[in-house]
Amino acid sequence: MSEKKNKPTDAVANIVSLSKRRGFVFQSSEIYGGLNGCWDYGPLGVELLKNIKEEWWKFMTYRDNVEGLDASILMHPKVWEASGHVENFTDPMIDCKQCKARFRLDVLGDSISEKKKEKALSELKNDFKDNPEILSRIEEKINNHGEDDPFNLLLEDEQVGKVLLSKLNCPQCGNANTFTEARKFNLMFKTFVGPVEDSGSVVYLRPETAQGIFVNFLNVQSSARQKLPFGIAQIGKAFRNEINTKNFLFRTREFEQMEMQFFVKPSEAKSWYDYWKVARLDWYKSLGMTASKLRYHDHIKLAHYAAAATDIEYEFPFGWGEIEGIHNRTDYDLSRHEQFSGKSLKYFDDETKEKYIPYIIETSAGASRSFMAFLIDAYYEEEVNGEMRSVLRFHPRLAPIKAAIFPLVNKDGMPEIAREIEKDLRRNFKVFYDDKGAVGRRYRRQDEAGTPFCITVDTQTLEDKTVTVRDRDTMQQERIAIDQLSRYLSDKLLS
Ligand code: GAP
Repeated sequence: MSEKKNKPTDAVANIVSLSKRRGFVFQSSEIYGGLNGCWDYGPLGVELLKNIKEEWWKFMTYRDNVEGLDASILMHPKVWEASGHVENFTDPMIDCKQCKARFRLDVLGDSISEKKKEKALSELKNDFKDNPEILSRIEEKINNHGEDDPFNLLLEDEQVGKVLLSKLNCPQCGNANTFTEARKFNLMFKTFVGPVEDSGSVVYLRPETAQGIFVNFLNVQSSARQKLPFGIAQIGKAFRNEINTKNFLFRTREFEQMEMQFFVKPSEAKSWYDYWKVARLDWYKSLGMTASKLRYHDHIKLAHYAAAATDIEYEFPFGWGEIEGIHNRTDYDLSRHEQFSGKSLKYFDDETKEKYIPYIIETSAGASRSFMAFLIDAYYEEEVNGEMRSVLRFHPRLAPIKAAIFPLVNKDGMPEIAREIEKDLRRNFKVFYDDKGAVGRRYRRQDEAGTPFCITVDTQTLEDKTVTVRDRDTMQQERIAIDQLSRYLSDKLLS
């Protein structure tokens, strides 16, 4: 084998194509031209996604202080008023009058070259050269922009945004001065309960699973007889009418979240935040994600309800991107639901005899976005004996198929033995039987599917009831007795 890794520059395009070819992910409604921002998980993809969710579920809930929940997607509309989503879950949006492309104003600068931005900024300053007040606002934003792009901050500025926008060409069609005024666009999908489509029957497809947990806080606490600190975990679909869906599964309109809200005494919030921050990053590493491609991005600018926030980011081929957020949400969520529902959500502390609203530490991961990170991270192209092979080096616990079983040839009783092995292993593992083509070709097909072990029945099997087990990554083979195969796979999945 030559060098270990050869990541193609166009890695996302390669992954999209491999995903379709091998049945990981298909475009939604493909035969009708597709539906933007929606994807379907094929036979291998659904296994990978299920394995990621299962690993998360075990890690988060197989402990004595975290309970599980599966709340409904549709909730009382007041939930979204209390959460602030009705008022604030908006993006500023502009359209190009010429080509009808739609853009988010607050990130428009990301699709414009540095040279063009510099030119527009110098023209902007020139336009306001006789207005020292506005000029100093512009300088202030340019010099003190924190983590934000100053160009985007200025685009959103009420006084200078419009002027700056008028200097830009549409990134899609290139025409000048074609943008509409910015308007607020709520990202929640709206629908109606019952037959009457009026304002009284509006409900929303949930944009996050977290609210289902907040409103069930006391139900879970009392039914599971939990005391603080304890958490509630949930996996489920979330929907956001994103203006710009992009980068395959990274930003979609329908996706899955894996969220856990940990309820704590206010005085213990900081130490639990630190605990979950470390635990969650370690989880990705424990499932084989490359450590050097993971980092924290601590927020300097915090949401009004948060006391601390960090993103766990993965280095995607298009740059660093958030895969999970960890937040100290204080007592904001439960206080708001108490206020809007009129029901007490206070916790009674047996020890101190106090009643108070707990603080919440949230860990909020995207199942679909983690899927993409695990898929990209596992993808290698390498040269083996003068030939290129594509391989997905999934951790065995995540691999969609755990083992493939081959008869070396389709005679001499080998297929019958291989079928017996398949039947036996299938009781506990997702396995695959393949008797088509040369064994080398069969190995390549399984490498590309990420199958960690290939079991071959050969001539020696007929003599001593052993088979070869070939390791996907080292490509080394060892002989294992047929009656030890199940134990062998179990041990590998536990490691
Ligand atoms: N309850 C907090 C919350 O929902 P968020 O940062 O908006 O926080 C959490 O979302 C995670 O959900 C993100 O880290 C990401 O993995 C995933 N996510 C959010 N929007 C997404 C989208 N449009 N497409 C795919 N995944 C998304």
